[in-house]
Amino acid sequence: MNARITDWRGRRVWVLGASSGIGHAFAEALLERGARVALSARNASALETLALKFPRAQSMLLPVDVTDSSNIDEAYSRLRAAWSGLDMVVLLVGTHLPVRAWELNADTAERLFTVNVFGVIRTLKLVIPDLVTRGDGGIVVVSSIAGYRGLPTSLVYGASKAALINFAETLYLDLRPKGVSVYLVNPGFVKTPLTDRNEFEMPALISPREAAEQMLRGFRRGQFEIHFPKRFTRFMKLLRLLPYRLFFPLVHRVTGM
Ligand SMILES: NC(=O)c1ccc[n+]([C@@H]2O[C@H](COP(=O)([O-])OP(=O)(O)OC[C@H]3O[C@@H](n4cnc5c(N)ncnc54)[C@H](OP(=O)(O)O)[C@@H]3O)[C@@H](O)[C@H]2O)c1
Repeated sequence: MNARITDWRGRRVWVLGASSGIGHAFAEALLERGARVALSARNASALETLALKFPRAQSMLLPVDVTDSSNIDEAYSRLRAAWSGLDMVVLLVGTHLPVRAWELNADTAERLFTVNVFGVIRTLKLVIPDLVTRGDGGIVVVSSIAGYRGLPTSLVYGASKAALINFAETLYLDLRPKGVSVYLVNPGFVKTPLTDRNEFEMPALISPREAAEQMLRGFRRGQFEIHFPKRFTRFMKLLRLLPYRLFFPLVHRVTGM
């Protein structure tokens, strides 16, 4: 469905969210494989520490806050000037706050959408025209199985991730015929600072390193949707098919919420 990527040597990849969790592990995996990686997030010292682990690799530090459009504009201009283009952008920026309906707060919800959804849109608005002109390259949108259906505690987060799934599907329809690959990554539970906020026991929890390896596998196969771990995501896909009259009682029973 998409270009298959087996060799990362020399590929120019912009990883947003590279300071921790899945983004950090994925950027590390790319640096090990000889890609040229531009590292972005707000925590500049974490990015620098990562780059210093690979003194012979070609990395670039691009600290950025995706809630600030001028910040992203500036980072992308620097990247273009240094590398005269980009082969892939990987949007691993995200934030999460477990919320129940009676705790809903509009300002917090708006902040979450500003990072998870508009951070992605602001970045892609800059990158898409260049990729379309070249008729090549890839965009990686990272959503979540929390975007498949409504689930307790993911009231706002789940809505932001559902938006990204729909957004990525439409991007694919528009961009694939123009030669640009669009990959949608839907992880299950990965142990990172983001999920450390969850108070429940997370089923089929995997490490960020394992998540990065699963992503690489998906790119090797040229998949549109890269979801993992399969033992959990297949179950979530089945839940998606259930009618509401079966889905709601089952979720209450399984989660106890
Ligand atoms: N962990 C999971 O189980 C899981 C499951 C499904 C989907 N995901 C998704 O995977 C992605 C990565 O999550 P993770 O679990 O690896 O979380 P994480 O460890 O908290 O990483 C989130 C990354 O986003 C960056 N970020 C947050 N706000 C930002 C901002 N305003 N500007 C720039 N960068 C910002 C953080 O860096 P700074 O704080 O340095 O800015 C960090 O590098 C997210 O989109 C998340 O929704 C995670």
